[in-house]
Amino acid sequence: HTLGTVKPLARLNARPLVHTRQHASHKGSYGDVAVIGGAAGMTGAALLAASAALHAGAGRVFVGLLDDDALKVDAQQPELMFRSFRSLDLSSMTLVCGCGGGPVIQTVLHKVLTSQSPVVIDADALNEIAKDSTLQATLSARRGQKLATVLTPHPLEAARLLAISTHQIQGDRLAAAQAMAQRFGCTVVLKGSGTVIACPEQTPVINITGNARLASAGTGDVLAGMVGAQLAAGHTAFDAACRAVYQHGHLADTWSPELALTAKQLANGGPSCG
Ligand code: APR
Ligand code: MG
Repeated sequence: HTLGTVKPLARLNARPLVHTRQHASHKGSYGDVAVIGGAAGMTGAALLAASAALHAGAGRVFVGLLDDDALKVDAQQPELMFRSFRSLDLSSMTLVCGCGGGPVIQTVLHKVLTSQSPVVIDADALNEIAKDSTLQATLSARRGQKLATVLTPHPLEAARLLAISTHQIQGDRLAAAQAMAQRFGCTVVLKGSGTVIACPEQTPVINITGNARLASAGTGDVLAGMVGAQLAAGHTAFDAACRAVYQHGHLADTWSPELALTAKQLANGGPSCG
């Protein structure tokens, strides 16, 4: 690949992404996000993604936790609406993260991937897809129906999706992101230093924001929620991914040097916010 095939994200992405509301709008104008995830021990991942979606401007955020014993309300974030994951309405933008492995997630993924809604798939759900050719076929079929789909693998998850080594992924991140986008017919965010965003119809981009302060547990879950909010707001998969990745890195770049960056505060939009 020559550098000519890559363009940095346009400066216009540097504008604040949300928080402007039309006077005559209502919460329905900004879209719903449904987060499915939070298997036992991973409740935090789903809550971080949900919180990030809320702070990134989604009108309403629903959470369907896979762990039936988990909490039914988050007193810190009473805006989040908890539902059984079995009865969650998948007609809104749906995000799958922090879901562990096993048969339940296969059923959930089949339901999500056959829905007509925009979808973000993160973390263990990607590993599940990597293992299951039926799910891969279901995923690829969304392209023909022009349904928005975003995968957000880190390098190890990408290695599993392409059945190659992490070393090979990191050796040519641009080619790896493009290969996943072609193979699965969707937008792929290959995370890590120099996040690459690729989709079959577009010139791929390498994000110019972000730094190693993001190397902290849960920041990927936050990114998934931010992509979800952009999809719920009506952006295309590629634009939603570009906007969220840019903003996620921009927050890290403008973080107070004296304060640790935590995923929770990143979800909230910055160290001094809520
Ligand atoms: N420079 C820029 N960005 C970085 C850097 C860096 N050096 N390090 C990390 N990041 C960014 C990535 O681009 C990504 O957006 O931080 C985020 C990290 O996301 P993940 O790797 O998914 O990490 P995390 O949120 O902790 O994942 C939680 O999910 O994917 C599983 O196995 C994973 O158990 C883990 C869980
Ligand atoms: Mg992750």
